[in-house]
Amino acid sequence: MRSPFFALLFVLAASIPWLAAQVPSQHPRVPAATLTVDAHQPGAAINPAMWGVFFEDINFAADGGLWAELVKNRSFEFPHRLQGWFEVRRKNARGTLTIHEDSPAIPENPHYLRITSQAPGEGYGVGNEGFRGMGIRAGEGLRFSFWARRGPDASVALRVALRGAENRLLTEGSIQVDKTAWTPYSLTLNPTLTDPGSRLELTLEHPGQVDLDAVSLMPTTATHGFRPDLMGLLRDLKPGFVRFPGGCVVEGHDLANRYQWKRTLGPADARRPMPNRWLDNMAGEGRFAPDYQQSFQLGFFEFFQLCADLGAEPLPVLSCGMACQFESGEMVPAESLDPFIQDALDLIEFANGAPDSPWGKVRAHMGHAAPFGLKFLAVGNEQWGPEYLDRFQRFEKAIRARYPQIQIIGSSGPWSGGADFDTLWAGMRELRADLVDEHYYAPPGWFLANAHRYDHYPRSGPKVFAGEYAAHPERPAPGTPRPNTWEAAMAEAAFMTGLERNADVVRLASYAPLLANVDAWQWSPNLIWFDSLQAAPTPSYWVQQTFSRNRASRILPVQLAIPPSATATAALYASAAVDDATGEVVLKVVNAARRPADLDLRIQGVQGLGGTARKTVLSAGLADENSLGAPPKATPVTSDVSVPGPAFSQTFPPYSLTVLRLSMKRAHP
Ligand code: AHR
Repeated sequence: MRSPFFALLFVLAASIPWLAAQVPSQHPRVPAATLTVDAHQPGAAINPAMWGVFFEDINFAADGGLWAELVKNRSFEFPHRLQGWFEVRRKNARGTLTIHEDSPAIPENPHYLRITSQAPGEGYGVGNEGFRGMGIRAGEGLRFSFWARRGPDASVALRVALRGAENRLLTEGSIQVDKTAWTPYSLTLNPTLTDPGSRLELTLEHPGQVDLDAVSLMPTTATHGFRPDLMGLLRDLKPGFVRFPGGCVVEGHDLANRYQWKRTLGPADARRPMPNRWLDNMAGEGRFAPDYQQSFQLGFFEFFQLCADLGAEPLPVLSCGMACQFESGEMVPAESLDPFIQDALDLIEFANGAPDSPWGKVRAHMGHAAPFGLKFLAVGNEQWGPEYLDRFQRFEKAIRARYPQIQIIGSSGPWSGGADFDTLWAGMRELRADLVDEHYYAPPGWFLANAHRYDHYPRSGPKVFAGEYAAHPERPAPGTPRPNTWEAAMAEAAFMTGLERNADVVRLASYAPLLANVDAWQWSPNLIWFDSLQAAPTPSYWVQQTFSRNRASRILPVQLAIPPSATATAALYASAAVDDATGEVVLKVVNAARRPADLDLRIQGVQGLGGTARKTVLSAGLADENSLGAPPKATPVTSDVSVPGPAFSQTFPPYSLTVLRLSMKRAHP
């Protein structure tokens, strides 16, 4: 069991004369509570990568989200080959759109589109609707590219146009398709107008025939393929790690639908799409998304690249041969598990192997000769039962034997407690998991009540990966998303003080899910909502960002003493840590009550504390949310406060998260 030295103690104290001495006479109110931070002997090191993100292709987070591609079904490989495409038949035009697969441009994705214009009139061809409309910005260049070959007629002129509301032309260009062999073509478009719901149109202006495949429209601002505004928000989170690719998509509805990392590699045009596990809206909420496929344009290479771009540790989750146990529950027979284990070993080599190793070579060919430095690997997502423990054991043995430095993460199932949870935890201890993945989606009250969940966790054995969590308020009405309220975010903040206080046990934590398209979501709440042009970071985003940007190095014990008269109304949560890099005590306090909380702060074991402290406060009304295009409500406000010494008073606003960064010299180094 844990040492009492690190425990958060609620001490019911009688009035303390010393407090009165600290209160300036012009504010004759006695602080309600005392918060003591013991900086004599900092405790365990906090994992610098502790606060991470969970990325799953849910809510159109990848295609139609972080992946900046604007064309949907770009290779005509969706089960409905023309899904996302529509015929453009202008005045006096006549022609046909047909799908073929003979002598394809890309054998792995054989279907392609033939446009035959018999009478072009004012234009005959095809259009693409994008992912609930294409977001086009004036001044943001777009690279249009495709494979094509002309028919038997002479060279074919293909007109490329982007049109917005009321058929407004945003930009246009023309390409001469002059080869009868498949050839890549490209063109840069420079829109002069902005429109959130645009469409792409490709038309022939003369009679003729052209075959098209792998059509793409990418903003030139999308470095490595990532949508810049969403990428900016992720960067600002400074995530310590990225969990990928989920979530349920790891497991799939059945095994055929599981995430297979190897089919996401190689040339983007040759990656075969697959129905997204969230296509059928299986969580029973959200927008109907019959067009939800995984294109794997954001595949495993791009995931590692994303981590490199964000300076985050990659944390892949792999199938353990068990499909979602809430759905088909399909399991690969134990005697056929080896290829799944081999996939895990190969992934480690893909990430970390020398450029001349078999999988390291694949990585190097894709453009990254240097290893990606993979340290973690999770086996299965929300798995449970004896079959899982058997499988985990086989993965663990094989990975440990070949790659002893990799930290292996096991599942504790989808529940935050109960018999299955306990059995899995016992199993993970026995099977030597490095970390155990815990998930909790629960009402805000659960997060407040569980702010001390880890205070009494065993200090030995596997550590905790809080791999998916979010406070879930009630939906206002059936069919509407659960709101991302400040109440939910504040409850998460209170809970996160508990994670930080117990950072010797909780090594990694990620809110889930990360991204959601307002027009194509399946799950709520989410950390960042977006449409085709804008993004709205939620109050929970600002909480995550505030914790992540105020991470520190080592835990400091904190002790809250609340006078008996205030215990019924006080709702205080706190953590403290020392930042070795800056020599600051970093204090996080959540006041979840509707009244301001006066706290007397005592920082013990420091010399020379005083001067100016940096204070960051987030506070809002419990029901406040952020929405697209509206000024954000719960955002951090930073100011400097004067700190007279190691003992001082502070008032913490109602419904708030406050971070204080206090400069210090420790008394006893
Ligand atoms: O985060 C959404 C889903 O919740 C994940 O896919 C799954 O792991 C969990 O049940």
